[in-house]
Amino acid sequence: MSTKPPGLRHYLQFSDLSAEDYAYLFERSALIKRKFKAYEKHQPLSDRTLAMIFEKASTRTRVSFEAGMYQLGGSVVHLTTGDSQLGRAEPIEDSAKVISRMVDLVMIRTYEQTKIETFAAHSRVPVINGLTNEFHPCQILADLFTFIEHRGSIAGKVVAWVGDGNNMANTWLQAAELLGFTVHLSTPSGYEVDQAVAGIRSGESYKVFRDPMQACKGADLVTTDVWTSMGYEAENEARKKAFADWCVTPAMMAVAKNDALFMHCLPAHRGEEVMAEVIDGPQSAVWDEAENRLHVQKALMEFLLLGRLA
Ligand code: CP
Ligand code: NVA
Repeated sequence: MSTKPPGLRHYLQFSDLSAEDYAYLFERSALIKRKFKAYEKHQPLSDRTLAMIFEKASTRTRVSFEAGMYQLGGSVVHLTTGDSQLGRAEPIEDSAKVISRMVDLVMIRTYEQTKIETFAAHSRVPVINGLTNEFHPCQILADLFTFIEHRGSIAGKVVAWVGDGNNMANTWLQAAELLGFTVHLSTPSGYEVDQAVAGIRSGESYKVFRDPMQACKGADLVTTDVWTSMGYEAENEARKKAFADWCVTPAMMAVAKNDALFMHCLPAHRGEEVMAEVIDGPQSAVWDEAENRLHVQKALMEFLLLGRLA
């Protein structure tokens, strides 16, 4: 018996979709956002169910996927490690086979990328990465859409990454390679991006800077993230020392382009990776960025289940 519908597509990392798919998704996100703001019903996923599996904490991802699926006419099942058999060592393969017979779509936030890949390999339905140690593609989808809304196409632009060579940094690099912009990366030593983990083909879409100020020079967008990501809490004290100079300051924003934006996926720690004057200042787009998780993920869920719509 066939277990997988033809054309089954997962969204496990940014490079799973093409530049053409992204152009469609940005257009579609804008339409879905306009309808949402006008209280116009848009329910192409009625009778569809999304399972959300969280092995790490979340505010934005949980609310945006859950609210988004209801707004699209569907419903949601929320699972965590603590309240499901996932936390009692049921094999991922078995969980994937069972859950994907009962729902139409699965979103997972977990630790290693290999876990979500294993789940997807045994799933009958599309699987979306809601954050792993290695990638956070839904966040970059929202960040790019936010940039485009404020400034137009990101092709040819410069994005300065100040901080950890983490899941967000890896995903920015995949996006740069696919969509034709450059990332200026500045990370403390020992916390660099690993090109193999980031899954990029060449080093052409990024430049490495020891000094974060140099990385920000001439940037169209300056962005950062927490010093200690979820799952790395044991390294917190060492990271606080290593990252002390990787805080986005007004001086860094001053050397970026005059109209440079600041973004942060949130949650943020003011006074650590970013000064309050920056994240709460006029160049910050963080609230639009957070809101746009809702709109882009609605477009993504619709795309994975129904394909491109006219
Ligand atoms: N940015 C983001 O993914 O936020 P949450 O951890 O709150 O979901
Ligand atoms: N890099 C952070 C992002 C949180 C949304 C983490 O993985 O914890």
